[in-house]
Amino acid sequence: MSFDRSLKIAPSILSADFANFGQEIQAVEAQGADWIHVDVMDGHFVPNITFGPDTCKAIRPHIKTVMDVHLMISPVDAYIDAFAASGADYITVHVEAGAHTHRTLQAIRGAGAKAGIALNPGTPASAVAPLLDMVDLICVMTVNPGFGGQKFIHGCVEKVAELRSMIGDRPIHIEIDGGVTPETAPLVRAAGADVLVAGSAVFKGGSVENPTPYGTNISAIKAACKS
Ligand code: DX5
Ligand code: ZN
Repeated sequence: MSFDRSLKIAPSILSADFANFGQEIQAVEAQGADWIHVDVMDGHFVPNITFGPDTCKAIRPHIKTVMDVHLMISPVDAYIDAFAASGADYITVHVEAGAHTHRTLQAIRGAGAKAGIALNPGTPASAVAPLLDMVDLICVMTVNPGFGGQKFIHGCVEKVAELRSMIGDRPIHIEIDGGVTPETAPLVRAAGADVLVAGSAVFKGGSVENPTPYGTNISAIKAACKS
């Protein structure tokens, strides 16, 4: 079977109601979410703090699709086993987060998860060239990591195309993270991305109490990429 490069939308629970993760996840999956993106921040690698492996473990039973954990933490190696044990399907680490990324990626696969590597907007595509056989996913940050609701950085689109050609036939997903909307999604989809993270565009400050925004933009993002 050929590798699945179909479009997948991964709502980021960073923009969900933190007191209601279970219901929030069920709501977006019911509206067509393909993966659930979980942003882990440590207040050191990025200037914001979210949550750790215990929260991932607690939300795992609510996720029917794919748990996609994005670690914005440094150091990272000591925590890989705990995130793998929490039930993460994908664990993505930043190439900027440590000196031994190759070893970290080995540890992720060794712990039974799929390995992802993320690149900040200021990091060139070439930074992952030596790691292509070590990864299942490359995450191109299209904002500087740390917060939801930031503006998409258009200069990153060319990097997506560059990575797509570097990857060739390798079974590696290209994920986009930051500022994805129905306006920006078609640009990165055309450049070769297949997983689009969307936080504020999906949740829009909504919640299970105010479900109107749910799904509106999951389907709008998918529709925009088809037209
Ligand atoms: C940013 C996070 C993103 C964030 C995206 O550091 O990694 O996943 O939730 O949020 P939006 O879609 O609002 O830019
Ligand atoms: Zn993220």
